Amino acid sequence: MIYMETCRVEDNRGVGGEYRILVLRSEQIAGSVLPGQFVHVRIPRRNDLVLRRPFSVFRVRNGCMEIFYKVVGAGTRVLAETRRHAALSVLGPLGRAFPDADPDAEPVLVAGGYGAAALYMVAEACRRRGTVLLGGASAGDILLGTEFESLGWRVEVATEDGSLGLKGRVTDLLDALIARRPGEHFEFFACGPEGMLRAVARRAMQKGVRAWLSFDRRMGCGVGACLACVLDVRDEGGRRRRVRVCREGPVFEAGTVVWEEDPGND
Ligand SMILES: Cc1cc2nc3c(=O)[nH]c(=O)nc-3n(C[C@H](O)[C@H](O)[C@H](O)COP(=O)(O)OP(=O)(O)OC[C@H]3O[C@@H](n4cnc5c(N)ncnc54)[C@H](O)[C@@H]3O)c2cc1C
Ligand code: FES
Repeated sequence: MIYMETCRVEDNRGVGGEYRILVLRSEQIAGSVLPGQFVHVRIPRRNDLVLRRPFSVFRVRNGCMEIFYKVVGAGTRVLAETRRHAALSVLGPLGRAFPDADPDAEPVLVAGGYGAAALYMVAEACRRRGTVLLGGASAGDILLGTEFESLGWRVEVATEDGSLGLKGRVTDLLDALIARRPGEHFEFFACGPEGMLRAVARRAMQKGVRAWLSFDRRMGCGVGACLACVLDVRDEGGRRRRVRVCREGPVFEAGTVVWEEDPGND
């Protein structure tokens, strides 16, 4: 069931750089959201910003849902200025969640930047703890490492500028993990920029690993009506069809996605 809920802001704190955590009291959405689902938030006080903004639910605690967000533009700037006790209109939970993890596989969570937020509830839900690979441009974009460790996950880090962890991409960590443990039965869960998802998908296909990718597409309505968020997939019969990331996603099995360009060597 999808709710339209007015949520009180309990907290809205900066956690370094452009990143913030918004804590919303929620009776309905928080009680039913599943790992990987998202909410669509109406930007308050700005009638010119008519489109809601989509955010993954990072976690649910004490009757509140938390959103971990990066300030990138007009809407998130207004959100960042929103004070405690303000009321926000929130639509959700939306989209299809990550499936339950395969109990026989070693789970690997692959996150680029704030993609880590969409994977935290997966980390909570997995019976088996595995490895979280966090990537970003620099140290400030490596998010939630301590939180994943507190849940019992091993955390490895890569930054493009080498300011924290391995100098390189998060998929370099993935390559090293796969090489270290040949014969391991892995399952990948990934959220981050589309180039990263494509690179994860490519490795999954090569190694015969099941991989679940959460897409972060620009959205309009968030509920399947406007077709702003379409993605091409192949169905079981191999036929190409167009799906809506907000409705049939945001989570898709890697093998079903049709990529726009040739993956090349990423
Ligand atoms: C399913 C889903 C889950 C998301 N979860 C999170 C989350 O947990 N935390 C978080 O910080 N953000 C998340 N996002 C992205 C978030 O919705 C956008 O950053 C936000 O809508 C930007 O709004 P704005 O008005 O500040 O920026 P705008 O002024 O609309 O845009 C500013 C810049 O951000 C880019 N941008 C806007 N939307 C997106 C998008 N969806 N993907 C990539 N670039 C975008 C624009 O191209 C532009 O360059 C998610 C998006 C989707 C679709
Ligand atoms: S955002 Fe409107 S159909 Fe997906």
